[in-house]
Amino acid sequence: MARQISTTLLYEGMILGRSLYDGTGRVLLQQGQMIKGSYIEKIKNQFSSVYIEDTLSEGITYEELVPQETRTRVIQTLSDTWNSWKREGSSFDRIVIGQKFAKELRQHVSTLVEVLEHTTIIREDLAAVAGYDHATYVHSMNVALYSLMLGQAIGLSHSMLLDLGTGAMLHDIGKLWVPEEVLNKPGLLTEKERDIIKNHADWGHSALSHQHELSYLVAHCAYQHHERLDGSGYPRALKGDQIHIFGKILAVADVYDAMVMHRPYRSGLVPAQVMEYLFSQSGIGFDLDLVAIFSKKVALYPLGSTVTLSDGRIGLVVHIYEQLPMRPVVRLFKNRAGESFDPIDVDLTQQLNITIEEAQNTAVIELID
Ligand SMILES: [Fe+2]
Repeated sequence: MARQISTTLLYEGMILGRSLYDGTGRVLLQQGQMIKGSYIEKIKNQFSSVYIEDTLSEGITYEELVPQETRTRVIQTLSDTWNSWKREGSSFDRIVIGQKFAKELRQHVSTLVEVLEHTTIIREDLAAVAGYDHATYVHSMNVALYSLMLGQAIGLSHSMLLDLGTGAMLHDIGKLWVPEEVLNKPGLLTEKERDIIKNHADWGHSALSHQHELSYLVAHCAYQHHERLDGSGYPRALKGDQIHIFGKILAVADVYDAMVMHRPYRSGLVPAQVMEYLFSQSGIGFDLDLVAIFSKKVALYPLGSTVTLSDGRIGLVVHIYEQLPMRPVVRLFKNRAGESFDPIDVDLTQQLNITIEEAQNTAVIELID
């Protein structure tokens, strides 16, 4: 029972619909908690959107894809490890992953595989509750989820999935050696800065390839996730089947999550826009079959998000069908002229003359006048 709103619309007394996490993966504010006035600025500094519960969102049953406890553990493992490597200051060809970390990571991946075994379609916007200061870890986890989902769909074995998921969690590890002022620069990057960032694929591969605890395929996830089918990628400009299936999967998962993710200086794109981009680049940059599978496995219009229909009415996505995710049930509450009316649920599988025209970016419309 929750809907997504921009944090610019938060006010005192609202009820939080999904828990918010801090940079180490701990729960910052629990689902169901009332928002106090003193929280609002803090939330705005960290999040671009949140989920709230109210009468309009009644009946939207919302289950977190990754259980809270699992999520906290994954983020904690990643942040602890990243931070300890940073503190040690070892160069990328010197770091030691260590058995403990490798084992923990593998366990986490195994849990995610299990979670996905019971999931036909990802209905939630995974990027929505990622705070800015732990975006890297959430991104790693989300890329692992999307990659595993694709891996499962094309029938990879369990042991391949474990390698793929571990590789996905570590795909950007090379960024640890990119200077922070370049990595977190909000504006446009110079060519030189871009080249520095591009090194992360190579550095990640070097860091991971000599770890005895990890399969060499894990290192290849870091090495190949920026390669593109037409040879326009880096670091080696590989083409077509020169790219390992893990590289092709990672490319789709990584770009999707990077584009929907919110940054302090810009909102993420909505899933439907990103999917359009992936399709426009499929067969060119991305594998067509993988993009097609992805589009059926991730809801274009996530639960609790706001959409505008072809007749101009605005509503919330309240139910998503497994077989027809592009035609959800929408709770309409506003007309083209912006006037509110008593909410009604419209099932788009029954109203084929109406289409979704636009998905709203984190629902910046004030829903109730
Ligand atoms: Fe990357």
